[in-house]
Amino acid sequence: MTTTSQTAGTTTLEELERRATERRDRPSYGHDALIACDRLVRIFTTDGVEVQALQGLDLLVTEGELMALVGASGSGKSTLMNILAGLDVPTAGAAKVAGCDLLAMDGKARLRYRREVVGFVWQQTARNLLPYLTAAQNVALPMQLKDGRKGGTRQKARRAEELLAMLDMADHADRRPHQLSGGQQQRVAIAVALANNPSVLLADEPTGELDSATGEQVFAAFRRANEELGTTIVIVTHDQAVASEVRRTVAIRDGRTSSEVLRRTEVDETGRESLVAREYAMLDRAGRLQLPADYTEALDMRHRVALELEQDHIGVWPDDKEG
Ligand SMILES: Nc1ncnc2c1ncn2[C@@H]1O[C@H](COP(=O)(O)OP(=O)(O)OP(=O)(O)O)[C@@H](O)[C@H]1O
Ligand SMILES: [Mg+2]
Repeated sequence: MTTTSQTAGTTTLEELERRATERRDRPSYGHDALIACDRLVRIFTTDGVEVQALQGLDLLVTEGELMALVGASGSGKSTLMNILAGLDVPTAGAAKVAGCDLLAMDGKARLRYRREVVGFVWQQTARNLLPYLTAAQNVALPMQLKDGRKGGTRQKARRAEELLAMLDMADHADRRPHQLSGGQQQRVAIAVALANNPSVLLADEPTGELDSATGEQVFAAFRRANEELGTTIVIVTHDQAVASEVRRTVAIRDGRTSSEVLRRTEVDETGRESLVAREYAMLDRAGRLQLPADYTEALDMRHRVALELEQDHIGVWPDDKEG
C-alpha cells in the first residue's frame, strides 16, 4: 500500500472515481474472440434426475485458431459442441460465436446460423453425408439450401470441385458414400461443412471410427482447411496424435475447462526446429484454480492450503495446522 491517496484504510473519492473509470474502460470478456463462452451451464433433467453437463465453462477461441478439446467420457465435450453448433441451448451463461448470441437467437436466426456461420463434422461417417448423392452433390447441397437457385448451379458445382480438390478427393467426386472408405467419407464431410464458407468448423471426434493412419489423413485435411481458408476449427478428440499436433489443447473436466497445453516451435542455434509444449492451469474469472490431482496428492494437500504472494508468483503450501 504505497499509494498516496490511501491513508489508513480510507480511500479518497478521487481514487474511487479513477478505479471506476478504469473498470468501465476495460474491454469486456472475450471482446476480440471469435468464440466466447462465459460461465456456460447446461443442466439436463431426465425423470427428475438432474445432470449438470456444463458447470460454468469459460472458453475463448481466437479467429484462425485450430484447437483440440479433450476430456474424459461424460466431461461435457459433446454438450459444448452441440451448443456451439446451435443445436442445443444452454441453461445459463453466455455464448457468442462470430457475433451471434447463442442464447438470444430465434428459430429463423438459428437456422441461418447453422447453415452459414458454422460447419459440423460428426464422428459417425454415415451421419455426415446423404447416401444417395455423390460426393460432389453432397458438397453442393448446403449451397443450394442456403440460396436456392440464386448464384448459379455451375458456380456451386465449381466450388464443390475446388473444395474436393483441396482435400485430395477430386478423383472421387462422382462416387456415392458407400463407394468410399471411412477416411474418404470424412474428407468429403469436411468439404460439405466448408461449402458455405463458415466462420467456424466444429468436429466431434471426426477420427474416432478410423484407424490411426487414416485418422492422420483426415486431420491433415482439417489442417489444410485451416491454413488455406483460414477457417477457425475446434476438434474434440480422444486421439493423442491429433491432440499433440495442434498449438492449443484445452482439457475439459466435470463440465469446466481445467487445463490447457500450448505448443510452439523453437529453433535452436543449429537451425533445428522442435515443438515445445507447456501445460497451464485455468484461472476462472472468480479467481478459482484447479490444482492437478497428482500435485496435491504428492504433497498431501486437502481441504485447505496456505497461499503466499511473492514478487512474481504465488506459493501454495499444505496446511500445517492439520493433524
Ligand atoms: N440429452 C441428454 N440428456 C440427459 N443427459 C445428457 C444428455 N446429453 C448429455 N448428457 C449427460 O451430460 C454429461 C456430459 O455428456 P457429453 O455427451 O457432453 O460428454 P462427452 O464429454 O462428449 O463424452 P464422450 O467422450 O463419451 O463423448 C454426461 O453425464 C451425459 O450423460
Ligand atoms: Mg461426446
